[in-house]
Amino acid sequence: MTTTPLALVTGGNRGIGYATARQLAARGMTVLVGARDADRGAAAVAALRDGGADARPLPLEVTDPVSVAAAAEQVEREHGRLDVLVNNAGIVRADGMARPSETTLTTIREVFETNVFAVVTVTNAFLPLLLRAPAGRIVNVSSEVGSITAMTDPESSVWPLTSVPYPSSKAALNMVTAMYAKELRDTAVRVNAANPGYCATDFNGHSGYRTAEQGAEVSVRLATLPADGPTGQLWGHLAADDSYGVLPW
Ligand SMILES: NC(=O)c1ccc[n+]([C@@H]2O[C@H](COP(=O)([O-])OP(=O)(O)OC[C@H]3O[C@@H](n4cnc5c(N)ncnc54)[C@H](OP(=O)(O)O)[C@@H]3O)[C@@H](O)[C@H]2O)c1
Repeated sequence: MTTTPLALVTGGNRGIGYATARQLAARGMTVLVGARDADRGAAAVAALRDGGADARPLPLEVTDPVSVAAAAEQVEREHGRLDVLVNNAGIVRADGMARPSETTLTTIREVFETNVFAVVTVTNAFLPLLLRAPAGRIVNVSSEVGSITAMTDPESSVWPLTSVPYPSSKAALNMVTAMYAKELRDTAVRVNAANPGYCATDFNGHSGYRTAEQGAEVSVRLATLPADGPTGQLWGHLAADDSYGVLPW
């Protein structure tokens, strides 16, 4: 059993997830690094521990219900509760940037499996543990390209992007976030979606203009909201003026 707050970051072995794990640990949390590959998870945990973090590996393939159930059972057995769940694991596919008229359902299904369906699987598996925490926090790592308002605004920086799989997966994730927030509004659990902004990670061949550490700050802020903090928001980096705030759905 841990007495420090306990956080789980899915896809915590690299990119924004790794930076989120590092920052949450720096705030005194014990961090479970969810990783689908044992070696990548162990390497990330070793690096985090070298930096002074109380990080521990948690085998977790988010699209596999058996893996998710086993992870939740392990956390229940070893800790009995979970304070913070960061649903960070996400994918994009090279052909996922094709125009809508050229989109394949194979790609859409593949992207939705990780970016949407897995978030529901993981959240439902860990929700009983989050409800046992004094102030459970769920952070769904989304994107401004999931904002229908931004994507249909010709003045927006994301206007040139015209594709279905990844943007629609994050739009769906935004609705998933809003509906969990509504269900849980009378509990201590706050549920929000994070927009890290365009960050240089493996995800985009390191073409982003923000760092993974900067992207992680958004998740950390939502993971550490006070008791009267907001729920049911898409919050994070605003590309228009490089500030932070609430983004329109
Ligand atoms: N980078 C950006 O500019 C940006 C902008 C907006 C939103 N986001 C979102 O931020 C999140 C993190 O992105 P990132 O840039 O850090 O990406 P990344 O560097 O590609 O890292 C993705 C992480 O997710 C894990 N993952 C993917 N599928 C998984 C699965 N089925 N089960 C378990 N883990 C899985 C990966 O594990 P492996 O190492 O095993 O592959 C990796 O740890 C994603 O949700 C992404 O959509 C990113």
